[in-house]
Amino acid sequence: AGVYMDIRNVLVTGRLREALRELEKRFPGIRFDFQAEGEPAKAEYDGYIGFALAPGLKLQALKWVHSLGAGVDGLLLNGRFSPGTLVTRTVGEMPRRIARYCRMCLLMEAYRLPDVLAANQRQIWRQPELPDSPKEVLVFGTGAIGREIAWQLSQEGYSCSAVSRSGSPKAPFQRVEREYSAYQGQEFAWLINALPLTRETVDYFDWELFSTLGPANFINIGRGRTVVEADLLRALDAKLLGRCYLDVTATEPLPPHSPLWRYPDIVITPHIAGLTAQEEAVEEAAATLTRILAGQPVPNTVDLQRGY
Ligand code: GLV
Repeated sequence: AGVYMDIRNVLVTGRLREALRELEKRFPGIRFDFQAEGEPAKAEYDGYIGFALAPGLKLQALKWVHSLGAGVDGLLLNGRFSPGTLVTRTVGEMPRRIARYCRMCLLMEAYRLPDVLAANQRQIWRQPELPDSPKEVLVFGTGAIGREIAWQLSQEGYSCSAVSRSGSPKAPFQRVEREYSAYQGQEFAWLINALPLTRETVDYFDWELFSTLGPANFINIGRGRTVVEADLLRALDAKLLGRCYLDVTATEPLPPHSPLWRYPDIVITPHIAGLTAQEEAVEEAAATLTRILAGQPVPNTVDLQRGY
């Protein structure tokens, strides 16, 4: 069932705010304010649209909070909303784009492309030893993103298992477990992190996990803070991890002095796997608002208790 809400004034923040001015035209009865991310809120609002909370925002007054990203940790981890607050998020083409990024990593590794590119820099023509085609992948998270990764990789002939909060079986995963320890002794070519950042997943990928499941390659398209970066480096040193493709890191932008840059087996990409496109930001925010004002059920809602 839907929840009708009377939304009258909405604050929009972040890099997509210019594109979101379109909302003013579509919802003439609502007053919208637009601000850069990090600028303090100057009034009280009943609606909020952004990637992260504006400082000084009166959280208790908010009826509706809409995330411009698929990840809602920027809104929820520091926020104390009233229990009735409706939190929604933008998903759009994100799962498909992120799954495509993962496919790219697997293909790059099939040709050892990072090594080949490093040799290019030094004008060295040398055929690398190419890996056999390993087929087992373990995906962490069975939400829209984790499942789409598994669909796309299945089409490439990979067999995907998963770890999820519920452990409930879900297509197209061969097997889903609540605890990664259930996979101890099984060999995986890849571990792929598609978990949301919540109080429960902070520092989830630690030495214990890497030593239980390694050796394997690793992809992080979730959030940087779910990984203990010192443990990841230790696991690389111990050869428990092979190549690591990190689209997200605990600190972004990743500072020049970070040791992550210095490992040749780490490929850093600057949070590009699943960027929200302007058009989908506008269309999803508008569709969500239309449904709220009509009292219709709203998709892409976030469970405040679970945090995703
Ligand atoms: C990007 O990281 C997002 O949450 O959409």
